[in-house]
Amino acid sequence: MANVLVTGGAGYVGSVCCAELLRRGHSVTVVDDLSTGCRNAVPAGAAFFQVDIGNQSAMQSLVSHIRFDAVFHFAAKALIPESVSNPGMFFQHNVASGIAMLEVLRAAGIRNFVFSSSAAVYGTPERVPIEEDDPKNPVNSYGETKLMFERILEWYARAYGWSVTALRYFNASGATAELGERHDPETHIIPLLLQAAAGERKVFNIYGDEYDTPDGTCVRDYVHVLDIASAHICALQKLNNPGMSAYNIGLGASYSVREVCKAAAELTGRAIPLRISARREGDPAVLCASPKRIMRELGWTPEHSSLREIIESAWQWKQRQLSSALAISSSLH
Ligand SMILES: NC(=O)c1ccc[n+]([C@@H]2O[C@H](COP(=O)([O-])OP(=O)(O)OC[C@H]3O[C@@H](n4cnc5c(N)ncnc54)[C@H](O)[C@@H]3O)[C@@H](O)[C@H]2O)c1
Repeated sequence: MANVLVTGGAGYVGSVCCAELLRRGHSVTVVDDLSTGCRNAVPAGAAFFQVDIGNQSAMQSLVSHIRFDAVFHFAAKALIPESVSNPGMFFQHNVASGIAMLEVLRAAGIRNFVFSSSAAVYGTPERVPIEEDDPKNPVNSYGETKLMFERILEWYARAYGWSVTALRYFNASGATAELGERHDPETHIIPLLLQAAAGERKVFNIYGDEYDTPDGTCVRDYVHVLDIASAHICALQKLNNPGMSAYNIGLGASYSVREVCKAAAELTGRAIPLRISARREGDPAVLCASPKRIMRELGWTPEHSSLREIIESAWQWKQRQLSSALAISSSLH
C-alpha cells in the first residue's frame, strides 16, 4: 500500500481521487490552500494541512515528518476564462509554485509523481481523436502552464531518475454520492446545465452554433471523475519506474453541446432554457481523446463515463446538496 501526498485534495477531482485511494487501502495526506477547494470535501481518513504548495518551509516541514511514496499533484488554477484575463497568476501558481514544491520533494528524496495535466496542452487539434504525441499548441495560458509543467517534469525524470506520469484529462464530469463539482464561478457545461435545470440560473448559454460539426455546436469528450480516479490508481503501477509518460484520459467518444443539453433536460425531467451566444475565443470545434495508450499500457478501463451516468450522478449529487442546504436553512428559522 502506498503513502500518497495529494496536493489540491480539497478540490473536485482531487477529493474523489483521495476517496478512491482510501477505499483501496492507501494512506492519504492532503495539502490544499482552500483557494478554490472546500475543507469538507476532503474525505474522512485523509490527513489535511492547509498549505500553499509554494510555501517551501511548510512543505519542507511536512515531508520531513512523513515519508511519502508518491505525490498526486492536482493543485492548480484551472478556470480557463480567468487564465485568459490573468495569465500572470496562472504562471505564478501552476508553474512557479510548482517548481518551489518540486525542489522540496527532490530534497526529501521523493521520486514518484503523478500530474493532473489537461487536453488544453493540445490547443486546436490538427486531427481527432488526439494521440499523445500530436502537436501541442495551447491557446490559453492555462494550457501553456500545463505544458510547461509537463516539460519541467520531463527534465526531473531525466536528471533525477523520477518516475512521472502526466494524465491529460479531457472534460472531467460526474459525481459520487458524496463528492461533486462546485467551482466558483462555474464554467463547466454539466454543472451549468444542472443549475439551469434547478432554476438557479435563468438560461444556459451555448457559445456558438456555427462550428463545423454535425449540429454546429462544439463537440467534447466527457470522462467521469471516478474513471479519472481509476486512472490515477493505474498510474501507481509505474511507481519506482524511472521516466516520463503522458496519457490521455478521455473516452474517444464525444457529444455536441446540444446533445448534452438534450440529455440533461431528459434525465432531469426539467426544461432548460437555452440561448445562443457568441463563440468564445480559443474554443476548438472538436476535442476528442484517443485513450488507447493508457488502456494498452496500464490497463485502464473506463466504467462510469456514459453520458447518462455522468449526468445522473451529477444531478443526484446536486439534489442532495440542495436538500441539505434547505435543511440547514429551515433549522435556522
Ligand atoms: N476539471 C476538469 O475538467 C479538468 C480537466 C483537465 C485538467 N484538470 C486539472 O485537474 C486538477 C484539479 O482540477 P479541479 O477541477 O478539481 O479543480 P479545483 O479548483 O476543484 O481543485 C484545485 C484544488 O487545488 C487547490 N489549490 C490551488 N492552488 C493551490 C496552491 N497554490 N496550493 C495548494 N492548493 C492549491 C484549490 O484550493 C483546490 O482545492 C487541476 O490541476 C486541473 O488543472 C481538470
